[in-house]
Amino acid sequence: MHGVRTKMTTPIQSTTQSLQFILLLSVLFLMAGCGENHTSQSGKYSLTLPLGLDSTAQYIPADNPMTAAKIELGRKLFFDARLSLDGTVSCATCHNPSLGFSDGRARAMGIYGQEFKRSAPTLINRLFSKDQFWDGRVKSLEEQAPQPIQNELEMRNTPENVERTLKASGEYQEDFQQVFGTDVSMDGIAKAIAAFERTLVSGNSPYDKFKAGETTALTESARRGLTLFESDRVNCVKCHTGFNFTDEKFHNNGTGQDQPQPDLGRFEQTKNDSDRGVFKTPTLRDMSRTAPYMHDGSLRTLMDVINFYNKGGIPNQHLSKHMRPLNLTEEQRTDLVAFLRALSGTNTLDF
Ligand code: HEC
Ligand code: HEC
Repeated sequence: MHGVRTKMTTPIQSTTQSLQFILLLSVLFLMAGCGENHTSQSGKYSLTLPLGLDSTAQYIPADNPMTAAKIELGRKLFFDARLSLDGTVSCATCHNPSLGFSDGRARAMGIYGQEFKRSAPTLINRLFSKDQFWDGRVKSLEEQAPQPIQNELEMRNTPENVERTLKASGEYQEDFQQVFGTDVSMDGIAKAIAAFERTLVSGNSPYDKFKAGETTALTESARRGLTLFESDRVNCVKCHTGFNFTDEKFHNNGTGQDQPQPDLGRFEQTKNDSDRGVFKTPTLRDMSRTAPYMHDGSLRTLMDVINFYNKGGIPNQHLSKHMRPLNLTEEQRTDLVAFLRALSGTNTLDF
């Protein structure tokens, strides 16, 4: 390709025909360069982020660089139900692209129709987070991927059996050789899936367009909602802050803490008393696609969420000090919902 560019700058000595050929190649070159995402000559993949996302906040571990072939392999694995013991459950069963990479259920349902204790979160914008799961119990997507495969309620498989099944299918050996230079392995499965997940980004929402200066991108109601969201009184930004609407920290907003045996969230990992009922602040992007809400799916609609915060969450001993009754009028609650809806954007993948 560089050769073509050089030729363009040298004096024209060629015939009209070859000049046309060079022009055609240049146009193709420019088109490739303008594409959403492309592979450079070194095979390294560069992800062009949609409007509103901060490329400096990307987290890609040094030992798992993104390449086009690896992402493609990860995509194939993500949709492959043979990762589960009986071949019925894939990652996409619970993280369905057409349901905002969630499943529309309050609690996820895995192999043999078993219910998992928590709701399946969206997978968009995982590129920007280290901690994964509602309680942050793993530190990377690479560490996360093997867990549902082995969880008895989700896919109930073993690494040995997954490797055996995929090898026997005969469909993956070549891919693994090309991408990792190894045979099918659990380590490679996790790395490829993680690389694929990092391409699931959402931005370019009405909110992002508004921030970029397109004043009509938000309705009047959504604009009032934005002002409330950021105001000292309502202060959603205390926790849902920055371009991805999360501080990447953990808080207790009371969800589920009125249950007889509440899910104690982060406490189960750290055993610190102050972590009782504490969960990760989730992104608020694409929320209009991922109902129901919260780690237990206890809130059905975005208006239910606003009503929940309006009451100050659910009282409990460890409730965050940032939770308090908001005394919002009906119009203000509608405005906040309109704002949350305006955070749904375009995904880089068009499923
Ligand atoms: C049976 C449904 C189910 C299946 C199958 C499943 N997941 Fe999940 N996923 C969940 C649930 C539920 C959670 C939240 C669990 C928790 O926080 O304790 C989750 C959490 C995650 C998270 C963390 C997201 C975040 O915001 O913290 C990632 C990443 C993820 N899953 C990826 C995958 C991948 C990759 C696969 C396939 C290898 C997969 N999941 C299979 C239900 C499922
Ligand atoms: C003290 C920190 C904090 C504040 C303040 C806060 N949130 Fe949250 N938010 C959280 C946490 C933590 C969760 C997850 C809780 C859980 O599932 O147990 C959450 C969950 C949500 C969810 C559900 C997301 C999902 O994936 O299911 C929405 C929507 C939401 N918050 C919107 C808001 C709005 C709107 C405000 C302001 C009125 C607000 N939050 C204020 C911390 C906070």
